[in-house]
Amino acid sequence: MRLAGKTAIVTGGGSGFGAGIARKFAAEGCHVIVADLNIDGAQHIADEIGGRALTCDVSDGASVNYMAKSVLGAGPLDILVNNAGITHLPSAMEDVSEEDFDRVFAVNMKSVYLTARAFVPHFKERKRGAILNVASTAGVSPRPRLNWYNASKGWMITATKTMAVELAPDGIRVNAINPVAGETPLLKSFMGEDTPEIRAKFLSTIPLGRFSTPEDMGNAACFLCSDEASMITGVAMEVDGGRCI
Ligand SMILES: NC(=O)c1ccc[n+]([C@@H]2O[C@H](COP(=O)([O-])OP(=O)(O)OC[C@H]3O[C@@H](n4cnc5c(N)ncnc54)[C@H](O)[C@@H]3O)[C@@H](O)[C@H]2O)c1
Repeated sequence: MRLAGKTAIVTGGGSGFGAGIARKFAAEGCHVIVADLNIDGAQHIADEIGGRALTCDVSDGASVNYMAKSVLGAGPLDILVNNAGITHLPSAMEDVSEEDFDRVFAVNMKSVYLTARAFVPHFKERKRGAILNVASTAGVSPRPRLNWYNASKGWMITATKTMAVELAPDGIRVNAINPVAGETPLLKSFMGEDTPEIRAKFLSTIPLGRFSTPEDMGNAACFLCSDEASMITGVAMEVDGGRCI
């Protein structure tokens, strides 16, 4: 029960890695608010783990502020996981539409600013708090044809480090995890199409020889957000089976 008595928000918690993080947090005694644009997915996970579902569009300031008002009105928050993210489809960088570019940057980057604006004052007041950003190996060791997605995750890693150093005097820790390609609904979008050949190509770059799982992310997130990691801030930890070596 490493998160007993704590409350966490997991954005994008209705699917994939976010659901894995929400499940692990709940199993470790945490009260989890599953915040997602897809309320059906969020409700499904919240029902399963005995948490609370909330609709939120993390790219929209009013929606994030509403989430903050609703969550903080019910009690203090200990952990914020910025997990919701999207990608454009693999394509030559100049062929990605402006609309897709704007959407990737709003969901993957602007959301980190919006949640910081909404929750950092609360964490500062309490002189404690843990923020975890779900970035990607794409921000460290990028593949071609996903340029604007890769860049958004590189931005997230830099934001994590800057947030960590600026918020450390207030007792707030900020870390990131960098998942390698994982078994979630998003995987198909990264691969372009899901064929045995493309799967084999992706797997050949992962020394441990398998895709990552929502459980892998839950375990890493739990450690970084628990008091066991009380001396750890500003890291962007690869959860990648050795892909970035
Ligand atoms: N799956 C991978 O291979 C992989 C690898 C590295 C990093 N990541 C990152 O992990 C995170 C989770 O990805 P996943 O693979 O679990 O994807 P997923 O598609 O399974 O889940 C993402 C969830 O985020 C929600 N979401 C999307 N836009 C939102 C918004 N504007 N506001 C609120 N919720 C929103 C979706 O409804 C969905 O429930 C993302 O940040 C992604 O970039 C994924």
